Amino acid sequence: MKNFEFYCPTRVIFGKNTESQVGTETKKYGKKILLHYGGGSIKRTGLYDRVIKSLRQEGIEVIELGGVMPNPRLGLVREGIDTCRGKNIDFILVVGGGSTVDSGKAIAAGTPYKGDVWDFFSNGAPEIETAIPLGVVLTIPAAGSEVSPDMVVTNEEGWLKRPAGGDPIRSRFSIMNPELTFTLSAHQTVIGISDILAHIYERYFSQVSNTELVDRLAEATMKTVINNTRLILKDLRDYDARAEIMWAGSIAHNNLLATGKEGDWGSHNIEHELSAIYDIPHGEGLAIVFPAWMKYVYRENKAKFVQFAERVWNIDGDSKDEESIILEGIARMEEYYKEIGLPVRLSDIDIGEDRFAEMAEKCVGDSTTGVFKKLDKDDVFEIYKLAL
Ligand code: NZQ
Ligand code: ZN
Repeated sequence: MKNFEFYCPTRVIFGKNTESQVGTETKKYGKKILLHYGGGSIKRTGLYDRVIKSLRQEGIEVIELGGVMPNPRLGLVREGIDTCRGKNIDFILVVGGGSTVDSGKAIAAGTPYKGDVWDFFSNGAPEIETAIPLGVVLTIPAAGSEVSPDMVVTNEEGWLKRPAGGDPIRSRFSIMNPELTFTLSAHQTVIGISDILAHIYERYFSQVSNTELVDRLAEATMKTVINNTRLILKDLRDYDARAEIMWAGSIAHNNLLATGKEGDWGSHNIEHELSAIYDIPHGEGLAIVFPAWMKYVYRENKAKFVQFAERVWNIDGDSKDEESIILEGIARMEEYYKEIGLPVRLSDIDIGEDRFAEMAEKCVGDSTTGVFKKLDKDDVFEIYKLAL
């Protein structure tokens, strides 16, 4: 195990009806707020009305900015920054999913910053020294942004999807009511599931040894996600299963499962090029990239992949060679993805090979990505090919 620091200061307020506390929580930080939301699901579900009521009860002045798109765009972030500066906003309340949270985080960091907000996402990025405080009412378990110090934004100029992060943009509180996720379709639900599992894989597949506790926590989280997804797909309003998944989404990404280890994040970077160019949901891209990445890198640490196959995918390792166990594990994972309705190949979502070289170049240039195996441009190209 490596030395580590673990810091996860977001107050998680979890359970039924917890959104009714949004007014009192918000009042601790601000009186004039930006309410930031997505394409309208919060209005259709009635959540918007409940949030406004709770804010009004506390006498909070609300300026609204809706319209965040999945794979959130820099253009709207800039609009939000102008609004926050012009109206002296003292708090940002995000109601929505990872895209809206990330858009809100970028506005929070960009408002007090003297330069251009895209600097934070560029090479040689400055540190985020300060940000407007921000809180979240989460409506989809997936990205884990409600507990992470990270944000991912797409610049329409050149379609660059890039991450950035820092402690000042962490959410002060995240209200998580699993009932708010009942309105997610089966497809939206499993896209989120793919991202949750991917966040665990990125941390699980590490070359650091003697990490039994954290490995077993990760395996328990993966098995919980696998089992409860099946229950949700039988009944989209299964509160208990929705609650397990919602909490798993935060556990997967609050860095507990990275303690003492090194995260990989190569697959995320490889995926970001897909969602930047083709505007596909992040979770769909990950369901396609991860099996390919696994097939490409497993020889770097076969013992880890045997453990994954046996403990997570219940492959019986007796009397089989390592290679067969590993490949059966990956195959069972792919079968599971197909069973729950996720694509596992680029061809499943009509993406061909014409832009592989461009994406590999944008992904790593002359550098590398990933830690489990450092991947250069040629490696990334091969992984896209395996994903075809
Ligand atoms: O926009 P609305 O109308 O609200 O609809 C959304 C959107 O279309 C809908 N939705 C959300 N909650 C709903 C609902 N529909 C019905 N009922 C509800 N309760 O779901 C759609 C997807 O929303 P989005 O916010 O895009 O989903 P997600 O949470 O998966 O976020 C994806 C983004 O997060 C980034 C991804 O790259 C992607 O841009 N990530 C952020 C990370 C972070 N900040 O730490 C880490 C992740 O690895 C990830 O990269
Ligand atoms: Zn992700």
